[in-house]
Amino acid sequence: MKKLKLAVLVSGSGTNLQTLINAQQANELPIEIVGVISNREDAYAIERAKNANINVAVLSHTSSGKRMTIKTFEKHALEQLKEWQADLVVLAGFMRVLSGDFINACPAPIINIHPSLLPKFKGLDTHARAIEAGEEEHGCSVHIVTAELDSGQILTQAILKVADDDTADTLQQRVHQLEYQILPFTIAMIAKGVFATDKAEYLDVQQGEVVAECLPKLPWKLVIDD
Ligand code: GRF
Repeated sequence: MKKLKLAVLVSGSGTNLQTLINAQQANELPIEIVGVISNREDAYAIERAKNANINVAVLSHTSSGKRMTIKTFEKHALEQLKEWQADLVVLAGFMRVLSGDFINACPAPIINIHPSLLPKFKGLDTHARAIEAGEEEHGCSVHIVTAELDSGQILTQAILKVADDDTADTLQQRVHQLEYQILPFTIAMIAKGVFATDKAEYLDVQQGEVVAECLPKLPWKLVIDD
């Protein structure tokens, strides 16, 4: 099977990136991570990529003491994605908001993993807000990236039951474990052609259509009882 070329955008620890690296190295998914872009030079994700001999572009927002504008970041990121010929861009803990111009110009579809059951809790501090709201269920979503923050078509969600003694910290840890399953699952569906892969098809999915009529409508929800 042809391998899906992934470019992964990161800002932090990169444990989701590590999960994908492990899956690639174990030949568990038909993927090839062609490059990693970090907008922070101190992101541990960079070490993870280098240790796996993956190309890294650090487009730091504080390079040489000056803040790189989002426009400059996006210009360099687009050049890089074109050079790597990525089929899919994965935002895995990438903490900058991308512009509509970038998303339209991007040569590949973009997906993001978000730590809540969207459309609930867009933005930051999702676990604390879920506790505060007294949610019985919580989890994470993989969605298509559009210009509106955390609002594109949701492809998949992994769901857990919130325990009485859960705190924001324990929920974060539990949801992270779900992320390590739902992100590879979603990428597997894309790589195997179950979810759309090219940009034209992806635009259909963005409108809420599924690739094959016989399949369940999006989003696909996995209840993972850990
Ligand atoms: C994850 O919780 C992800 O959902 C969010 O940022 C975090 C990244 O974690 N978007 P890591 O860098 O993959 O460890």
